Parts: sequence; C-alpha cells; structure tokens
Amino acid sequence: MNTTTLNLQTPSPSLGTSIQQQVDEAIGNLMASLPDPKKLSAEQRRGIIARYTAVLEGNFIYWMTGALLAVNTEQARAIIVDNLHEEVRDSHPNMLRKFALAAHAIPTEADAQTIYRDLTNVRLFVGRLATVPLLITMAFFEGFIQKFMAYLSELASDQGSAEMEYTDVHGVCDIAHTQGLFNALDEEIAVNSPEPDTNLFEGVGLLSSLIRTIVHNPTSIHGAKTNGVKPV
Ligand SMILES: [Fe+2]
Repeated sequence: MNTTTLNLQTPSPSLGTSIQQQVDEAIGNLMASLPDPKKLSAEQRRGIIARYTAVLEGNFIYWMTGALLAVNTEQARAIIVDNLHEEVRDSHPNMLRKFALAAHAIPTEADAQTIYRDLTNVRLFVGRLATVPLLITMAFFEGFIQKFMAYLSELASDQGSAEMEYTDVHGVCDIAHTQGLFNALDEEIAVNSPEPDTNLFEGVGLLSSLIRTIVHNPTSIHGAKTNGVKPV
C-alpha cells in the first residue's frame, strides 16, 4: 500500500496512543532478542534469573515511588498508589526472593557488578522525576515484565524449580498495571503536555539497555569487564 495514501486516510493518533504504540514496539524488540532458553547452559539460566532479581527486588517499588512523586494529577496518583499497595501488601520482593532461591539463582557480587553501570543510569534518570518520560518508562517496564514472565518461569523450571508464584502473579496483574500507567500518562499529558524537545523515551532506552545486560550479560563475552565503574 502507498504510504502517502495510508497517512491521508488514517487520522493522526493522539500523543498517548502514539506513545503506547512505540512502547509496544520497544517491548517487542526486547522479546525478540531473548535467546532460546533450551540453548542456554545452567549458568546462563542462573545468571539471567539472578541479574533480573538483583534489579527488580530492590528497585521496582522505589522507581514506582519515583513515579508517584513525579505525577501532578489525583487520577494518576490514585493509579500508582493502587499499584504500590499491591507490591507492598503482597510483598512482591519476597515473592521474587523465593523465586530466585528455589531456582538456585540468588544474586552474587559478580551479578551486581555486571548490572551496576546500566542500573545506575536508570536510577539517576528516575531521580530527575521527569513526569511524562518516567511514566512512559514504568509503563514500558510493567509491559515488559508481563511478557517476560513465561520466559522467566521456563528458565526457573529448567533449573529444577517449581516455585512459580512470582511469575504467575506478574503474568496476570501487570496487564492491568500497564494499562493503568497508560491511563495515568493520558491524565498527565492532558494537564501538562511535555515540551516539544523532551526526549520522551530516554528512560525506555536506558531501561532497555539494563534489560539487555540482564539477559545477555556482556561481561561473559569480554571477560571481567567492569566498564571502569566499581560497584558499591
Ligand atoms: Fe510486582
């Protein structure tokens, strides 16, 4: 089909819809980059689970709290508080710790070192509390997590684990959470549209890099690379 014709016939989507499409595309790209789980060694499986745990266990609630601090509308605040309630009340960090423990994949010092630089970049981005880019980042994160759960549970199962509460819960509840964050995004854009020169996908790019490091572990290819940064 002629693209000019397509553009003339298709009404331009709202900013929120266009953002959601780009987030979906970024998630699709990440999912397509995942290695075949059946071709991974036990150490590679352990590493992915351990690095994922090292990032999510101590940071997810903190980053979502950053989103709470960054929003301006009551509607967006209510959506994020609802999400945080579930995280804290049901102790999702504990759920994740049990998942990693049962898969023999508790994070090590080397795992922390591997993710250190990319994790720091995301932390500093979140700390800037840039409302719209941060909401987009968290919607991307929730959407990715939900899609990633089947893959993560397969790795754990291949590690001999039957402890799947974390992946079962997040494969379902993050569908609603992701849509909630897009609703919050619409609310924020309606009252305070970002400046035209704002890089709306800065956090998505940084978080994608972190997730690629979780999955692909660049340090294993190039030896003990620390990117010149020492972990704390
Ligand atoms: Fe969670």
